[in-house]
Amino acid sequence: MRKKVIAGNWKMYKTPDEAKAFVEALLPLVKGHTRNEIVICPSATSLSTVVETAKGSNISVGAQTVHWLDEGAYTGQTSPKMLTAIGVTHAILGHSEPRTHDSETDERVNLKLKACVKHGIHAIVCIGEQLEERQQNLTRDVLLAQLAGGLAGVTPDMADNFVIAYEPVWAIGTGLTATPEQAEEAHTIIRTALAQHLGEDVAAKMRILYGGSVKPGNIAALLAMPNIDGALIGGASLVAEDFAKMVKYEA
Ligand code: 13P
Repeated sequence: MRKKVIAGNWKMYKTPDEAKAFVEALLPLVKGHTRNEIVICPSATSLSTVVETAKGSNISVGAQTVHWLDEGAYTGQTSPKMLTAIGVTHAILGHSEPRTHDSETDERVNLKLKACVKHGIHAIVCIGEQLEERQQNLTRDVLLAQLAGGLAGVTPDMADNFVIAYEPVWAIGTGLTATPEQAEEAHTIIRTALAQHLGEDVAAKMRILYGGSVKPGNIAALLAMPNIDGALIGGASLVAEDFAKMVKYEA
């Protein structure tokens, strides 16, 4: 059985004070919960606060991106070494927003993934097609290309250090969720490709999360699909009560 991961991507929301209040509200709601893994990914300025507030709990903390080098003249960047030094254990890579607005590419995702593995950071590697690509029947090609680029040179022994998140770009922040069947179809393509890259055993163990307008009302149907092993949640992860409901969703 693959343990499910319920991860919140806060994007550019919440000050440190707001982040602290969220975690203080969430802690009693998920106390003792061990069925699913819980990860929160605040913006950089709230990472330390969330790590401190969640210390000793079942909540892990992730960054929303990371550079691939340990240090250097890279204004504005944060290295994996710096993140682990403050207790961050996870990082989102390849999200469609930095792919669209910044300079995230498959090559960079690949460098970052290897850097995360080196530093013991668990990466959440995001892939997903745009609406036009889906309409042109290119979903499969896009997913395979993003996986091939992102996982180039990645070996089976690195597989414990990352999960994949399928986030169809047209479903992010739009309220348009992929149907469980659409998501399952994409997850099956991804798992088959993982088997080719990393072997059947690794592919069978790899968690593949779904992201895109996940909410308390639709999480159970999505995560009931055999190849959907968790959720990466944006907007609905910003309210502690809603996030707790999704962490503890009943199948
Ligand atoms: P929404 O849940 O707001 O659609 O965002 C999904 C997402 O981008 C998570 O990384």
